Amino acid sequence: MDSGKLYTLPKLPYDYNALAPYISEAQLTLHHTKHHQAYVTGANAILDKLTKARKENTDLDMKAALKELSFHIGGYRLHTLFWENMAPAGKGGGGAPGGELAAAISAEFGTFDRFKKEFTQAAGGAEGSGWAVLTHCMKTNRLIVMQIEKHNVNVVPGYRILMALDVWEHAYYLDYKNDRAKFIEGFWNIVNWKEVDTRYRAHQKK
Ligand SMILES: [Fe+2]
Repeated sequence: MDSGKLYTLPKLPYDYNALAPYISEAQLTLHHTKHHQAYVTGANAILDKLTKARKENTDLDMKAALKELSFHIGGYRLHTLFWENMAPAGKGGGGAPGGELAAAISAEFGTFDRFKKEFTQAAGGAEGSGWAVLTHCMKTNRLIVMQIEKHNVNVVPGYRILMALDVWEHAYYLDYKNDRAKFIEGFWNIVNWKEVDTRYRAHQKK
C-alpha cells in the first residue's frame, strides 16, 4: 500500500509586502506561513493516520477523523483560492471585473455595485470564523454569493468557488484589530478580477 501524496503549502503568487497597505507584510506572512501551513499539516496528519490504520488494519474514530480532515482540507483549499484571487493594487488588483465575468455579474446582480454590496454584507455577517465566496452554479448558470462557516460548513458540492475572502480574525487582526468592515473595504483594492474571470470561464466549459 502506497502512503500516497500529501498536501504542501503553495507559494504565494506575489511577495509578502505586495498587498500592503490593505494587507501588511506581517499580517500576510503570519497568515500564510502559520495559519495556512497549519491546515496543510493538519490534513496530512489525518491522511497519515488513515494510511497507518489501513496498513495495521486497525479502526479509527471515523467521524472525528473525517470531520477534522474536511476542516483542514477546506482550509487548505480556500486559502489557496484566496491568495490567487488577489493581486497588488494597481498591478492586477482592484478596479472592476471585465470579460464574461462582468456580463455575468450584471445579469445576476444588476450592477457591479449591487454585487459588491451583497458580497460585503455576506463577508461582514459570516458567523464566527468563516468566508464569503462568489460561486457559480452549473445547473442554473447563476452566480451565487455564499457564506462558509469555519472552512467546511454550508459548503455546497459542485459549486465552483470563483472568489474567496477570508474573514477569520487571523486574516486581519494585526492590521485592523476588530474592524472587519475596514478589512473588507480594503479587499476590493486587491481583487484579481482577471483570475476570477478565468475561473468563471473555465467552469462554464465543463
Ligand atoms: Fe485564514
